[in-house]
Parts: sequence; structure tokens; C-alpha cells
Amino acid sequence: MPTDQLNGAPDLKHTSNIGRLDDVDIHDWYRFVYAYSDRLVTGLADEFGIGEDDLVVDPFNGTGTTTLTAKKLGIDSIGTDTSPASVLSARCKTNWDVDLDAFRERRSELLRTIRPVFDEISSQGNTTLDSFGESGGTDVDLSTYDFSEPEKTPKGWLSEKPLQKMTVLKYHVEELPDDDVTDLFELAMIAVLPEDVGNVRFGPEATRDRTQEGDTDVFRFFKNKLADIEADLERVQAAVESGEIEPGDTEILRADARQLADVLRDESELLNADAHDGEVDYVITSPPYPAEHDYTRNQRLELIWLDAADDNEDLQRIKKANIRSHTKNIYVADDEGEQVDIRANDRVDAIVSEMETILEEEDISHGFGKYYPRVITEYFAGMQHHFEQVYDVLAPGGKAAYVVGDSGSYWQVEVETAEILAELAENRVGFEAPEIRLWRNMAATTADYDDVEENILVLTKPDE
Ligand SMILES: C[S@@+](CC[C@H](N)C(=O)[O-])C[C@H]1O[C@@H](n2cnc3c(N)ncnc32)[C@H](O)[C@@H]1O
Repeated sequence: MPTDQLNGAPDLKHTSNIGRLDDVDIHDWYRFVYAYSDRLVTGLADEFGIGEDDLVVDPFNGTGTTTLTAKKLGIDSIGTDTSPASVLSARCKTNWDVDLDAFRERRSELLRTIRPVFDEISSQGNTTLDSFGESGGTDVDLSTYDFSEPEKTPKGWLSEKPLQKMTVLKYHVEELPDDDVTDLFELAMIAVLPEDVGNVRFGPEATRDRTQEGDTDVFRFFKNKLADIEADLERVQAAVESGEIEPGDTEILRADARQLADVLRDESELLNADAHDGEVDYVITSPPYPAEHDYTRNQRLELIWLDAADDNEDLQRIKKANIRSHTKNIYVADDEGEQVDIRANDRVDAIVSEMETILEEEDISHGFGKYYPRVITEYFAGMQHHFEQVYDVLAPGGKAAYVVGDSGSYWQVEVETAEILAELAENRVGFEAPEIRLWRNMAATTADYDDVEENILVLTKPDE
């Protein structure tokens, strides 16, 4: 059983929470607060005895911790996620065959192009030379760029000059050929946005951070990020070349985990390769849980810079593909709860009844509170659909491990996520003897509800 040294509140001040990692190489190219530790994956791989012939899937792959760790361990893996930013991250981190000469050549050219423009932006309006730019008065033509703030940028998240520099960067990255080398520039671009450029902090919800406002040395952050990427790729390519590492094969797909088996059968080369013959051996993952975390807000800047969040329609498309885990992704047409009669589960019914009583007694008919019961029903029904898909594609005897937190986010009504998921998986889907282990206690995200458990739920598909 893996142990996480981080008992108590994790460090959520920064997007990266690098402290949670045993081995930061490549993982730290891009991280977010919801990313888990590679230690969890190495620990479970060790305990389950996952080997080179096995196929591991992370259906909620996020920034790609599972798939990168599996690759480093020589294990084949597939990761899926609904977020284009996460898919890009996981794809870059697990593609080690990039042409580094082409990368270096393109980097020099790109940095040469953006440098004078950034200098010009920094020096605009300055009467002294206290800015990051040195020049001013160059023949840079800033009218080439549209500096208007993208519509879905949360208020105050980007100061004027950093916004202009990121606009210039995006413009020139978009001019590059559409290939895996350019993917690395895109990843570096979106990684510096929340980490170094934006006025935003994560606690874990993303909020405006006024202490960061003003001009920023975007050039240096971007250049350093590219240097980290280059150094890690050099190291890993040399390790592969020398035989020190025999990496697993990896595939990253954009998919809704509630359609996992269908998508993998249709689109995955790895699942259908002779080595795996259409079956997944292990699932290791951390799905959302009902706790008001809006992934599309936490990754908002990244999604905007990837043109995936230009307007409400774009955002809705991503949210609708997501498991319903917060009040801002509940829709009128949502009916998974009814489809599977989720309230026939006593625990779900008790939670929903308690919430309905509060709604009635407090006479709550507006605001997000009225959606709380539906988050619960739609969440657990969505997860049931996901379990059905996992069961379908898992080999007999295969195991699926889920890291999930309990929740007290909704009027402190206690939601024992792992317990309920275990019942649904066993009674409705067919997994046997679900096991729940305490992973750690986390400080709750609401001040009035302390210590929420995060558990690992382990499901096993019966042998035939
Ligand atoms: C807790 S995070 C996973 C973090 C990951 N373990 C890591 O280390 O980065 C949950 C992820 O689930 C994704 N997600 C939410 N609903 C999904 C769905 N229906 N299908 C696939 N991914 C989904 C979110 O975009 C988010 O990246």
C-alpha cells in the first residue's frame, strides 16, 4: 500500500504541487492542483504486480500522471480526458520520440521573433528603463496583433502587458507547423499562463490574486520552460537509447469516461494491438467527486489559449462531457439519475432526501443550492455508467483503483463517496468484494467542515 507523506492539508497555493511527486522529471512540464502523486501509481503497480504485458488505463487522466508513470515503468497505458489542455499535456509528456534538433531550431527562431515584440510591449508607456524590455523605438509593429482580452477570461486574471505578450506568443506559435514539436511549444505556452503569468491562485478553486498584477517577464518564463522540456527529453532519449529505460507504449485520447469501452474499441490502436487483444488489465485513476471543483475554470486560461474556450458554447461542450460533480455543470436535459433509478440506492436516497428537506425548510428556490440534490444523483449515475464501461473492457480478474474524496461541500451533508461507489459497483455492475483504503485526510475546502477523507476504492472483476 502506497503512503503519501502529505497528511493534512496539501499545498494548494500553487498550480503545480510538485512536492507531491517522487520523480519530477517531465511531470512538472504542466501540473494542476488536482493532480495526484506518481507515488500512488508506482505503489499500486508494485502491489498489483503490474508487468510489461499489461495494459493500464486512466479514464480521468488529467495532466497525465498515470500514463507518464506507467511509461517510465515500461508499462503500456492509455489515458483519456475531456479537457483539451489535459490531453495536450499527457500527449506531450508521453511522446519521447520528438525530433530535438527540429525543436531547437524552431525555438531559436520563435524566441528571436518574439523578443523584440515583448521588449516593445514592456517599454510602452515607460519613461524610465525599469521594465523587462530594453529597447523601445524598434521597428516592431504592434498593430499586427489583436490585444483585446478573450471573452471568457475571468476578470483581472491577466494584466495588460502580460496579456499582450501572451497574445503575441499565441500568434507566432500558431504560425508553426502542426506537429509534435509544435505541441511542446503549445504546452510550454499554456503551462506558464497559470503558473507564472496570470494573476491567479489556486486554493484549490482558482481566484484572482492581486499581488501578482503588473508586467511580467513572460519571455524568461517561457524560455525556461522550454529549457526544462529540452533537458528532460535529452535525458530520457539518452536513457532509452542506452537501454536504461524500456518505455511502455502510450496512447492519449480525448473521451468521456462514461463511454470508455465504446471509444477505446473504436479509436484505440493500443487496446486492439495483438499484445492486448481488446482487454484492459488495470485502471488507476482519480475521477472528479461531488465537491464543487470546476475543472474548466481552473484551466480557463489554458483552454482559452488553445482556442477551446472562446465562448459559452465551447465551455458547455467540455462541461457536458464531464461527470456532473458541481452545480455549474448541471443541465435541464440531464437524466442519468432517472435512467438508472439512482435513488434506489439507500445511501444516495438518504443524502438527497436530507438535501430536499433543507431546501424545503429554508425555502431555497434560487441560487446554486437548488441544484445540490441533482449534483448527487447525476454524479453517482454518471459514475455507474462509467463502471459499466470499465467492467465491459476489463479482463477477468482485472482491477480498477479509484482515488476519491468524501464531501461535505453541500450544507455539510456528508457524502461518503467511496462507500457509495463501492455499493454501485458491486450491486449494480458486478464487481466483487470492493475494498476501501484510507489514502489521506485532506483539509476541507470549506472552512466549516474539517478533515475530509480521500480513499482508494479497489474494484475487482470476477474471474470467469
Ligand atoms: C482529479 S482530475 C485527475 C488528475 C490526474 N490524476 C492527474 O494527476 O493529473 C479529474 C479529471 O477528470 C476529467 N474529467 C471529468 N469528467 C470526465 C469525463 N466524463 N471523462 C473523462 N475525463 C473527465 C477532468 O477534466 C480532470 O482532468
